[in-house]
Amino acid sequence: MDEKEARELLRLAAAARERAYAPYSGFRVGSALLDREGRVHLGCNVENAAFGPTNCAERTALFRAVADGVPRGAFRAIAVAADTEGPCRPCGVCRQVLAELCPPDMPVIMGNLKGDMEILTVSELLPGAFTLEGGRSG
Ligand code: THU
Repeated sequence: MDEKEARELLRLAAAARERAYAPYSGFRVGSALLDREGRVHLGCNVENAAFGPTNCAERTALFRAVADGVPRGAFRAIAVAADTEGPCRPCGVCRQVLAELCPPDMPVIMGNLKGDMEILTVSELLPGAFTLEGGRSG
């Protein structure tokens, strides 16, 4: 994934952010997930009056892709965008779901609406993750 591709995925994430349903926090987030076939799965945060059922943009994109038939591991990159001072970073729950479904070396492209961008891998965001391959049986 070169810089041009990363910026394009981030642009799609910023567009997906427009669909966010965030009447409680007012914090709108968008995500764009690229699969191995070149398809892009978009996500936004969807909040709830009971707060707990809120789904982040990243998980919306990941769960949508799984429901659309993309197998575990068949992802190339994910971008996340919000109107933040620096690049928007995924929460701990989303990091765990990324570790479950995506390759450990997959780039996570974090950005904002001003053009800031930072890229880290899934395993850099959650080192030593509890996953199917390791960490479950001690
Ligand atoms: N949120 C995301 O969608 N992704 C992130 O990476 C951080 C947090 C959402 C959840 C909630 O709707 C709002 O942002 C405030 O936490």
